Amino acid sequence: MRTPFLAGNWKMNLDRRTALDLVGALREHLGGRTEVEVAVFPPFVYLDEIARALAGSPIKVGAQNCCDEAEGAFTGEISISQLADVGASLVVLGHSERRHIYGETDELVNRKVQRALAAGLEVILCVGETLAEREAGRTEEVVRTQLHGGLAGITAVDMARVTIAYEPVWAIGTGVVASPAQAGEVHSYVRGLLAGLFTAEAADSVRIQYGGSVKPSNVKELMAVGDVDGALVGGASLKPDDFLPIIDFAR
Ligand code: PGA
Repeated sequence: MRTPFLAGNWKMNLDRRTALDLVGALREHLGGRTEVEVAVFPPFVYLDEIARALAGSPIKVGAQNCCDEAEGAFTGEISISQLADVGASLVVLGHSERRHIYGETDELVNRKVQRALAAGLEVILCVGETLAEREAGRTEEVVRTQLHGGLAGITAVDMARVTIAYEPVWAIGTGVVASPAQAGEVHSYVRGLLAGLFTAEAADSVRIQYGGSVKPSNVKELMAVGDVDGALVGGASLKPDDFLPIIDFAR
């Protein structure tokens, strides 16, 4: 039984006040509910304060990125131990904006995944094809390469702390959501790849989130797809009016 996992990736949005108001509303709304798992990913500078605002609640706090090195002369970078120190318990890695705007390779993403898991954090590893790749019939190849590359050297035991997010790049921030059938095809493919890389049991327990223009109006039909175990939400995670109905998709 995979607990649905709804996560809000704030990207470079919100300020101190709006961020605190948002998590205040989330905390109050969610109470002690555990039938869904919820996480927020604030910008680095607000992590400490947001983690303190959510202390004692079931809502997890994560970072949107981390450095692949442990410490030292890496100006502008943030280490995994610093993230853990301010209360982050998970980290999003391999997001398409990191891959496509900042040129992150599968090798770099993999070093970050290894670093985060070794430090005891959870990881959401993002994979997904561009529109050109989909149109060229390369969706499976792209997803396979990113998954194999990102998870190189990871054990089946470590996979208990890994969530995969399938985020077709053409659906991110565009308002064009993948159809339930399109999401379902790739999600099943990803689970099959995980079974090949690890064990059938490990693959069966990994949660695979869908990401890309998830909204209150489409979350229910996406979550009804067998291998869709959650959502990684960008734009619609920034306001309680959008994110609360997403968390409540099953109500
Ligand atoms: P979006 O972003 O929900 O705004 O499309 C999703 C993501 O990038 O994780």
